[in-house]
Amino acid sequence: MAGQYQEYQILLLGLMMMTTGLFCASRAQDPSQLSLDYYLKTCPDAQKIVRAEMECAVKEDPRNAAAILRLHFHDCFVQGCDGSVLLDDTITLKGEKEAAQNVNSLIGFDLIDRIKNQLESQCPGTVSCADLLAIAARDATLLVGGPYWDVPVGRKDAKTTSLELANSDIPAPNQGVIALMTKFLEKGLSVTDLVALIGAHTIGMARCVSFRERIYGDFELTSHLDPTSEIYLGKLKETCPVSGGDDNIAAMDYVTPYVFDNAFYQSLVKGDGLLNSDQEMYSSLVGFATSDLVKMYASDPLAFFKQFSDSMVKMGNITNPEGGEVRTNCRFVNT
Ligand code: HEM
Repeated sequence: MAGQYQEYQILLLGLMMMTTGLFCASRAQDPSQLSLDYYLKTCPDAQKIVRAEMECAVKEDPRNAAAILRLHFHDCFVQGCDGSVLLDDTITLKGEKEAAQNVNSLIGFDLIDRIKNQLESQCPGTVSCADLLAIAARDATLLVGGPYWDVPVGRKDAKTTSLELANSDIPAPNQGVIALMTKFLEKGLSVTDLVALIGAHTIGMARCVSFRERIYGDFELTSHLDPTSEIYLGKLKETCPVSGGDDNIAAMDYVTPYVFDNAFYQSLVKGDGLLNSDQEMYSSLVGFATSDLVKMYASDPLAFFKQFSDSMVKMGNITNPEGGEVRTNCRFVNT
């Protein structure tokens, strides 16, 4: 795959940093701050309220599940899971919505507003937007057929954002396996977490700009190019011409785009991943560990579900050491 030499250099750098302890776990929080019964007395119906709204939204459009799951990921990778991704730009605060991986791409903010309004009407000023998002991401997964996990809660919402970190820390689809591993390690997440969490791409859509390089690049090299793959590639090229149509979308799991299952990994084993970063997990020459995991999840859906749940809890436990507040409107810090 492209950039192998550069990746080798990053790998060496990564190994050096790991041995010198430079990958500090400081941003990978103290999970003891969170608990399962945090809202037991203050908002006992918090989980029910989130679930009810998510049920309606996913029934209305299953894409909503994908939108919310991704929002939680993009939240946790910037300053920890602190709802910073939800903040709008104001005169005094530059949010993260214009970051390279977010702009014209993240959706679901209106749904978060709807859930927040319900929570505020029942338990004003109690449930943080960061917790709302973590619970909603679990429900999103469950509602499209994925696993359940208990969500530890008690996160605070940030009063600050970081466009700079959003630009540097959120992984991009043109990155290779070493760069992706490094980004996850920096957050205290392992290679196993990376491969399991990327399984979120079993649902949801990507825009042509995110996969054009892949379909006109090494798709034909990685794919077995059986008749199904040939038809698939042809359709992708129709959706995403060499130029134009940047915002046209295609499912990342073309077998079962609306079901949370392990078909995504089976597509990677066939060499048919839509994003370069997805296919790297299986096809990269330096991705021994990742390709073994892809093979395992492709053949063992329960192993995938178990690891995905564990890794989601781990990712959700990345807290912002600065603490914060409980916002009353997820788009703005409290005045
Ligand atoms: C290796 C790291 C990852 C990369 C490079 C990556 C990249 C991308 C890209 C490029 C898209 C399409 C965006 C667009 O074209 O507008 C996307 C969509 C998505 N990503 Fe990831 N992603 C990664 C990891 C994750 C993780 C860890 C999760 C959640 C746990 C996740 C959940 C999703 C979902 C659900 C969608 C579909 C969103 C929708 O349909 O609106 N991704 N990702």
